[in-house]
Amino acid sequence: MSHTAVVLAAGKGTRMKSDLPKVMHTVAGRTMLDWVLDAVIATGPSRVLVVVGHEADQVIDSLPDGVESCLQAEQHGTGHAVSVALDHLAFLTGDVLVVPGDTPLIDGATLNRLLAIHRADANATTILSAIADDPHGYGRIVRDEAGDVAGIVEQRDASDAVDEITEINAGMYVFDARELVEDLGALQANNAQSEYYLTDVVAAVVARGHSAGAVVAESVAVMGVNTHRHLAEAAALRRIRINDELMDAGVNMQDPSTVYVDHGVVVEPGASLRPNVHLTSGTVVEAGAVVGPDVSADASTIRANARVWYAVLRSAKVGPEAEVGPYVSLRPEAELSEGSKAGTFVEIKKSVIGRGAKVPHLAYIGDTSVGDRANIGAGTITVNYNGFEKFRTEIGQDVKIGSDTMLVAPVTIGDRAMTAAGSVITEDVEPDAMAFGRARQVNKPGLAARLWARYRGDSGQ
Ligand code: UD1
Ligand code: CA
Repeated sequence: MSHTAVVLAAGKGTRMKSDLPKVMHTVAGRTMLDWVLDAVIATGPSRVLVVVGHEADQVIDSLPDGVESCLQAEQHGTGHAVSVALDHLAFLTGDVLVVPGDTPLIDGATLNRLLAIHRADANATTILSAIADDPHGYGRIVRDEAGDVAGIVEQRDASDAVDEITEINAGMYVFDARELVEDLGALQANNAQSEYYLTDVVAAVVARGHSAGAVVAESVAVMGVNTHRHLAEAAALRRIRINDELMDAGVNMQDPSTVYVDHGVVVEPGASLRPNVHLTSGTVVEAGAVVGPDVSADASTIRANARVWYAVLRSAKVGPEAEVGPYVSLRPEAELSEGSKAGTFVEIKKSVIGRGAKVPHLAYIGDTSVGDRANIGAGTITVNYNGFEKFRTEIGQDVKIGSDTMLVAPVTIGDRAMTAAGSVITEDVEPDAMAFGRARQVNKPGLAARLWARYRGDSGQ
């Protein structure tokens, strides 16, 4: 039997003190809502409905295909939010799974267990609960002398006795749709926040003589995020999970506590991540690559056996066996071919560096193609921008660009050609030629000595 899923995401998240709707805050590179939707979709619901309200358009735009939304224009509490959802779903029957949008550590297995136990026990309502080390802030599960669930009391409405209870409400439940419609209709907002609490449905179910069950989950899995402190805590927990999975699969990490791998990043078994590595959306690290210390890579590919350290990569490609760093900036469309090198203090943008080619020191390479095995001397700059337009530089195979060469684009350097150190190259250089683009040196014998004498009053010897 399938079920309908309702995800609550209309709240402003006042405690975040942020313009961003709470569920749009990210954990490991993806919104809290996306993490929740993943877990919900893993339960195989017939429909998924997200209740949106605060900054609704932004939340709706983020929804994956197949997920519906409905608007809770004013947010009068979680009970009100579910009423709006049920109005939208009209004449719904069967089980309704309700999940808040601010629990980014929830997983499909936990929700599946909630659904399975709900069905097996034939309860009217089943709550997901957890035993928390620090239950403060959560609603608490109140049980009767027999240990059966009697209701849920919110933190703000808790007596001292209730405050002692460590079993918290995860805010995730399975309800019978038809009964839920009735119970929601009878909710009152006479509580500390003057809101319609979904939690009050539980006591109503019990008062009608029906049973309410609770499935105890791991407290980490159901953690709710209401503040930036919670968000950082959730991100740290998610990170531990991601890193543990990678290490179990064969990725080496010297210090996983400093390794940040976002959702959607691929790190192949046999890769090694050194301390202070940040890999964000779309990045791929292949087997045998050694990345770090101190690498930030976004939407970039680091191929097998490459070595990258102290570097920032944005939409860049590092080929197999290539070497990058230390202190390198690879900007969008920088592409290093197999066995090539970008060394100390080098910036590369929208350029292909050929196989085995080297840019070892202090260079800017932009809008350029560098041929195989070419060597770019220290201090070389491709002068690609005249202040208005960008132009390309073409450097052939086996070229040797002398140190401190300015390659004023558009310019082409033929295969095997060389440029003299300190040259300003404004014209194309044919293959096998050597280009000098600098003033000839003039030595004036004795001039230095005369200057010493003039300024120091002695011979300068
Ligand atoms: C809620 C529960 C609490 C539980 C905790 C678990 C209630 C009354 N309390 O408290 O028992 O321990 O979650 O994390 O349900 N939302 C709407 N519309 C609204 C109000 C809220 O869509 O009118 C959404 C929020 O965007 C959020 C979710 O519902 O995603 C939970 O709301 P929140 O205000 O965070 O509830 P808590 O105080 O955490
Ligand atoms: Ca919450």
